[in-house]
Amino acid sequence: MTAPAHPAADPATRRGGPPLIPRPSQLTALPGRFTLDAHTAVRAAPGGATAAADLLRTLLAPATGLPLPPARDGSVVLLVDPALTGLGREGYGLTVGADAVLLRAAHPDGLLNAVQTIRQLLPPEALSAEPVLGTEWTLPCVQITDVPRFAWRGVMLDVARRFRPVSFLRRFVDLLALHKLNVLHLHLTDDQGWRMPVAAYPRLTTVGGEPHGGAYTRGELEDLIAYAAARGITVVPEIEMPGHVRAALAAYPELGNDPSRRLEVWNRWGVCDTILGVHDEVLDFCRAVLDEVADVFPSPYVHVGGEECPIVEWERSDDARRRAAREGLGGPGELHRWFMDRIGGFLAERGRTPLGWTESGRDLPLAFTALPWRDAAHGLVAAGRGQDIIMAPHRSTYLDYPQSGRPEEPPGQPGGPVTLRDVYDLDPAPAGWEAATAARVLGTQAQLWSEYVPTAAHAEYLAFPRLCALAETAWSAHRDWPGFQRRLAHHRTRLDTLGVPDRPPHGPQDPQDPHEHHP
Ligand code: ACM
Repeated sequence: MTAPAHPAADPATRRGGPPLIPRPSQLTALPGRFTLDAHTAVRAAPGGATAAADLLRTLLAPATGLPLPPARDGSVVLLVDPALTGLGREGYGLTVGADAVLLRAAHPDGLLNAVQTIRQLLPPEALSAEPVLGTEWTLPCVQITDVPRFAWRGVMLDVARRFRPVSFLRRFVDLLALHKLNVLHLHLTDDQGWRMPVAAYPRLTTVGGEPHGGAYTRGELEDLIAYAAARGITVVPEIEMPGHVRAALAAYPELGNDPSRRLEVWNRWGVCDTILGVHDEVLDFCRAVLDEVADVFPSPYVHVGGEECPIVEWERSDDARRRAAREGLGGPGELHRWFMDRIGGFLAERGRTPLGWTESGRDLPLAFTALPWRDAAHGLVAAGRGQDIIMAPHRSTYLDYPQSGRPEEPPGQPGGPVTLRDVYDLDPAPAGWEAATAARVLGTQAQLWSEYVPTAAHAEYLAFPRLCALAETAWSAHRDWPGFQRRLAHHRTRLDTLGVPDRPPHGPQDPQDPHEHHP
């Protein structure tokens, strides 16, 4: 799918076009409106449309109270037609006429995206969690064909530094789905906490999950995964190794480089020198943890961190030097690569693709999909050597940085700022890249680290509206900053209806903003 040939003539960018975020690939506004009322019925054609019909009903019920019952002659028709190959897995066609609405896709996931577009075509009150009386539930007539530019449109949440309850994660999933984001990457373990239970290693969560809040149960994670899947979102787990493991070493010191040492779960931020050892017991541990991760998470991708791993402990360790010699390596400096290879192998045995943070574009085995976080240029290096990448450069995608340099901005990670425009202007596969290199770019994702994000409300404040910009960057091939700002002005009414404390356009103390927006 390519962008329209004459973007200026495309009604999606003109004043008065429906203010959709992300911007659809092709949109034609038509005269008239369709009204949803107590008599409106929904026809899910045989062959995979039922889940999207259920989602439409579930999402519209709280505000509208409309039953939208299933009926063979329903005027809202959902259809999966595998012959519509041009729509890919997630694209859709949506025709709203005065008498009928037709949602079409080649795959059930595409229909889920069409449902989110219908929500945005309705009045913002349709997003309310409470019944809304006296609103006419009408949509403008429109013809939309919409296909995402990138298959990976993600957000990472750091639930290791600060545990967030499942209720928050479900709400976050709903917010992602509204923006057609399709990956929730959970950073489950770090120096400061371990949040995922592993049956063979119970102390990971009883000891490692103690500070900053707790741990999920396996049942909670499975429920969240199903909830997200029903909204077209894959939950991708991250288990950090061989660095960022201090919480695990507090629970099981024998996995470190000095088993006689007793460590606390780390109570500072930054990069910790204590890392996993490289003895067989550690490989057994990693395999057991990743086996359980693969049992719980159906995600085809599993993230294993890999970054910020000082090797001072390996350089000092006789064990590590012996391991390096036994494996035919030049020294402890080559153990990181060896370790990541072994971990990638475990995941390959379970049919999963490993993900890792790259710090140069050359530090991860090619079997890994790499997330360049320090610099987009590392993405070009990795993609150029034939590695799949997901763009995550901190200057464009780290939402824990403040949204401006102004003194009244609520605190975030020192550094930054990352402005709305910075996020919008990231092009994950710039036009100058060779086609084969650009084809390695799976997409992009935002990062919400939580060291400086104590509350859930602060997390939402930092996330919005910058996630709206990331969603458009990831979905739309069309760069349209003025149009985005115009559409966002309307979209904020949707966020307000949802109770999202998004940062006002002119800053946290914007006198023109009618709402008090403080995290
Ligand atoms: C990172 O910021 N540690 C990927």
